[in-house]
Amino acid sequence: MGISYDFSGQVALVTGAASGMGLTTATAFAHSGARVVLSDVNAETLQAATEQLKAAGHEAIGIACDVSDETQVKSMIQQTVATFGRLDATFNNAGIQSPAVDVPDVPNEVYDRIEAINLRGVWNCLKYQLAQMRDQGSGAIVNCSSMGGLVGLPGRAAYHAAKHGVLGMTKSAALEFASRGIRVNAVCPGIIETPMVSAMLQGESALMNEMMREVPINRLGRPQEIAEAVLWLCSPGSTFVIGHALVVDGGYTIR
Ligand SMILES: NC(=O)c1ccc[n+]([C@@H]2O[C@H](COP(=O)([O-])OP(=O)(O)OC[C@H]3O[C@@H](n4cnc5c(N)ncnc54)[C@H](O)[C@@H]3O)[C@@H](O)[C@H]2O)c1
Repeated sequence: MGISYDFSGQVALVTGAASGMGLTTATAFAHSGARVVLSDVNAETLQAATEQLKAAGHEAIGIACDVSDETQVKSMIQQTVATFGRLDATFNNAGIQSPAVDVPDVPNEVYDRIEAINLRGVWNCLKYQLAQMRDQGSGAIVNCSSMGGLVGLPGRAAYHAAKHGVLGMTKSAALEFASRGIRVNAVCPGIIETPMVSAMLQGESALMNEMMREVPINRLGRPQEIAEAVLWLCSPGSTFVIGHALVVDGGYTIR
């Protein structure tokens, strides 16, 4: 664990915190002294993750929440403030992938589900987090985009539409709140070794191997490398960084 930030006295919230880079980031916030709200749609894995942090002596609560449901997101933020009194840092990370398919063959239900979680889910979180942070006059938000927010890939139009959209709302919200003590930024992960990518490596091995050949650093990213970026974006080390899309992709998008 290379992180040495000090988030003591602060409250950090992570969505999609029961797995992958969300879990690693929630853990990193806890190790850095924050009181942590873990949130996920999967109540079972969420409970296990929360119990693990608490057993290690950290202050943490788990709130089951489907980010695509505005009512649940509103209640998640209310519960956070009711429990810990404030909200200082958030990582809006919950998201899903779908199989690579040509645009004409993507059922609109699949398109709608991807946008509901990956785009409107971030929107819902942003909305209620910013309302709380506006009252406080402080806060730092990191939205999870992707290298898919910067470039296109065949078969991924719906996912990339959502991830491009995340950057649009990040920049606009960042402008709204830049002078009010609240920073909104995004992280753009490359191919990171998480359960999501393990499933893709199994289900679409030819496509994924082709993509992997395009990664200059020649390996998968580690969830910890995303957590490092998120914590920095929430830390006093990045106080002049506003509306930025921080690319952490082993060089994929600079080719
Ligand atoms: N792994 C990668 O290579 C990669 C690359 C770029 C971007 N991303 C993005 O990073 C984020 C995390 O991905 P990961 O690889 O850690 O995935 P993961 O599948 O390991 O974890 C995602 C978590 O989000 C939760 N989730 C799914 N739908 C939800 C919903 N509606 N409400 C709340 N929680 C929900 C899942 O239950 C799961 O715990 C996603 O937004 C993904 O699009 C991943």
